[in-house]
Amino acid sequence: MTNISTPPLSADAVMRDAPVIPVIVLNDVRQAVPLARALIAGGIRMLEVTLRTSQALACIEAIAREVPDAVVGAGTVRSAADAVAAHHAGARFAVSPGFTPALGRQCRDLDLPLLPGVATGSEIMLAQEEGFKALKFFPAVQAGGLAMLKAWQGPFGDVVFCPTGGIHAGNAHEFLALPNVACVGGSWLVPADALARGDWDAITSLARAACELRR
Ligand code: 3PG
Repeated sequence: MTNISTPPLSADAVMRDAPVIPVIVLNDVRQAVPLARALIAGGIRMLEVTLRTSQALACIEAIAREVPDAVVGAGTVRSAADAVAAHHAGARFAVSPGFTPALGRQCRDLDLPLLPGVATGSEIMLAQEEGFKALKFFPAVQAGGLAMLKAWQGPFGDVVFCPTGGIHAGNAHEFLALPNVACVGGSWLVPADALARGDWDAITSLARAACELRR
């Protein structure tokens, strides 16, 4: 459970903590704590654990309980019920692949900062109507990538994005150079093979390299 003395967090602060938010998929709760420690050793503490596996909530709980330097969040939050479950497990922020007003209101009721997923102008307008202006652009590369973000700078100059989807060590810097990009998200910091081997040093190195990316 979340420590009640934990200070409030904003979606903007989640995005600005480091250049990259790792998108994490865990099938084994025993990997959660060493993985979180490996990422923190490399300088990344905002950790998005996706609700895509049966173990995801247990992993969030383990990190929240055992790794006080981590700020664990839930990804793939698709419903109000997901948000409640993530919050109960100790998630301190939520990331969603799309946006609904019901999800936005539930997160607000829980004081759970939400990075809502958008891919079109109408979705940005809907999220803005509900008070959100720090948004995830998903799936970023597939939905228009750099050109789309540049096009949004005019009409949506007051919005900042965390593009996610198709971003990796080789193209992250191009996204981070845009003024409306606060950070990027991606799974490349936690490769499935390194995770399976328990190669925590490799993951720390990837996190360290990600922290050196310039915004
Ligand atoms: C996802 O939801 O899977 C994330 O956007 C990660 O995408 P990536 O694997 O392309 O980084």
